[in-house]
Amino acid sequence: MTKPAILVARKIFPATIAALEQHFEVESNQDDASWSKAELIARLQGKVGAFTTGSERIDAELLTACPQLRICANMAVGYNNFDIDAMSAAGVLATNAPDVLTETTADFGFALLMATARRISESEHFLRAGLWKKWSYDMFAGAEIHGSTLGIIGMGRIGQGIAKRGAHGFGMNVIYHNRSQLDAATEADCKARFVSKEELLKTADHVVLVVPYSAASHHTIGAAELALMQPTATLVNIARGGIVDDAALAVALRDGRIAAAGLDVFEGEPKVHPDLLTVPNVVLTPHIASATVATRTAMAQLAADNLIGFLIQNKPLTPINAAQVASK
Ligand code: DGY
Repeated sequence: MTKPAILVARKIFPATIAALEQHFEVESNQDDASWSKAELIARLQGKVGAFTTGSERIDAELLTACPQLRICANMAVGYNNFDIDAMSAAGVLATNAPDVLTETTADFGFALLMATARRISESEHFLRAGLWKKWSYDMFAGAEIHGSTLGIIGMGRIGQGIAKRGAHGFGMNVIYHNRSQLDAATEADCKARFVSKEELLKTADHVVLVVPYSAASHHTIGAAELALMQPTATLVNIARGGIVDDAALAVALRDGRIAAAGLDVFEGEPKVHPDLLTVPNVVLTPHIASATVATRTAMAQLAADNLIGFLIQNKPLTPINAAQVASK
């Protein structure tokens, strides 16, 4: 019996390819070539499934051109590369990779917060450049972490993980803003208090963004929000590019409107706003919040298991639009 054909759109662990090959005819991209949309469409011809990574845009144009496609399995918890309405209309299942990356990403959010507040990158660059000639009392004096106020915007699983690290590990006073207030038990577990976005921006010493990207969350932080923050405050974005207006942030950092920022995600990444590259008080990392070997392996496995679960066993593990697709 011929196996169903699928496409793996980016380079991935050889073990993941091997697991998929047990069930499917697999065309993969182990050279990690940058495919244009036209090339992606061409390679998807005859494929019923796609393993995607968040870099591939799945929209109405692509879906119309790939009528055999039945599922796109994203190796990411975020899925703003998917036009879910178009996928549902086309009867194409979308899956993502939640949970397996929660703690690792929360670890990274906290690491980026600490690196930003304690000026770790800036001071390392200074040292490597041979500029350290003598100790001085105020050299790279940053902001306190323990006992300070941590404001989290977006209190899903990862936001809660960061809240717990802050409250239980560092004695931080945790406030949060979210579309809806958490239940009392979860708030108690996180030792977190729900506040308005405005109160959070005005009072937090450190603001961490973990909100999913959508049209509604575009530029959650722009010039007006940066103006509300304290001049000593830090801002960390591990959510998605586009949640922060990067141009406005570069101005705020340059003018000392806020003290520092840590960014793992960027508008239009992998391009980075050129002004962010010229300000010293920002820590920049290339979208690596979930990047440990164990977690990336688990994310790849979950995406593969979604393809196998749906196409072979008719039971995807973490579907996004199952109800809409079932009603087609
Ligand atoms: C995610 O899973 O959404 C991470 O940002 C990696 O893309």
